[in-house]
Amino acid sequence: MRLSAHAKINLFLDITSRRSDGFHNIISFMQTVSLSDTVTIEQAESGIELKGNYSDYGKKDLAYRAAEAFFDCFGISAGVKIGIEKRIPMQGGLAGGSADAAAVIRGLSRIYNVESETEKLLKLASSLGSDVPFCLVGGSRIAYGRGEILKPTSNLFDCGIVIVEGNKGASTPEQFGELDRIHGNFEDHDPKTDKLESIINAIGSCDIEKVGNNLYNIFQDSDKCDLSPIRKLKELGAYGALLSGSGSSIFGIYESFEKAESVSIFLNNIGYKSHACYPTSSAL
Ligand code: C5P
Repeated sequence: MRLSAHAKINLFLDITSRRSDGFHNIISFMQTVSLSDTVTIEQAESGIELKGNYSDYGKKDLAYRAAEAFFDCFGISAGVKIGIEKRIPMQGGLAGGSADAAAVIRGLSRIYNVESETEKLLKLASSLGSDVPFCLVGGSRIAYGRGEILKPTSNLFDCGIVIVEGNKGASTPEQFGELDRIHGNFEDHDPKTDKLESIINAIGSCDIEKVGNNLYNIFQDSDKCDLSPIRKLKELGAYGALLSGSGSSIFGIYESFEKAESVSIFLNNIGYKSHACYPTSSAL
């Protein structure tokens, strides 16, 4: 079985508070895009085997742990062979690892006929990581809590997206720690929900300019990521450009996929590693 594991970007990301369990409560507009890894799943009698076209895959990999947790959760005694062809930049704030884990859960749930057990699958996803539930569902969602509480919202309209790979992988816990320092542990933080509201309204009226003007990510307050591609993307006609997740990838939004493709080709030629893609309305 072959599955697509889609990358996600955040059109809006703010933090509402720091929690006692070490996590942070967030508010985010999450969006899946067409840039994807390919995950293959093959039933086996026993054992979990994982092969990938990247260097450090293995037992610690979220996709491996997803299979382990799935068998455990449904009391299934079986094995699986997982293959991952990675195209989503790693440690880029694009939820690539979470997307692969979600694809493993989706694939196994199809094989073992438990696709309808949505609550159980979402709980399983949530136990693996904050972004995994969203990656299971995909499309356009407003995320709360650690990121695992998902509310539906209108789908982002067709447009083009260029993702520029960051020059270094940003560690998520370190990035949250940096924001704790900058924002006094979020004891008295007002999230910029007006911007989120504007994005939601702008999507309703297909106003790409307004979406672009209201993109917001609190992780841009940290100086650990190189934000210079934002200026470049805007020079090349982006309606808005933003850091994705805790970094280090930067995305820009354009009026069409064709425009995004031409911008991406130009950027690749001048030394920026980039990918052209478009929003998807689900994780499939
Ligand atoms: O959930 P996930 O495993 O992706 O989180 C990795 C780390 O990022 C957590 O251990 C935590 O330090 C930080 N995190 C956080 N608040 C969130 C999500 C992640 O502080 N909402």
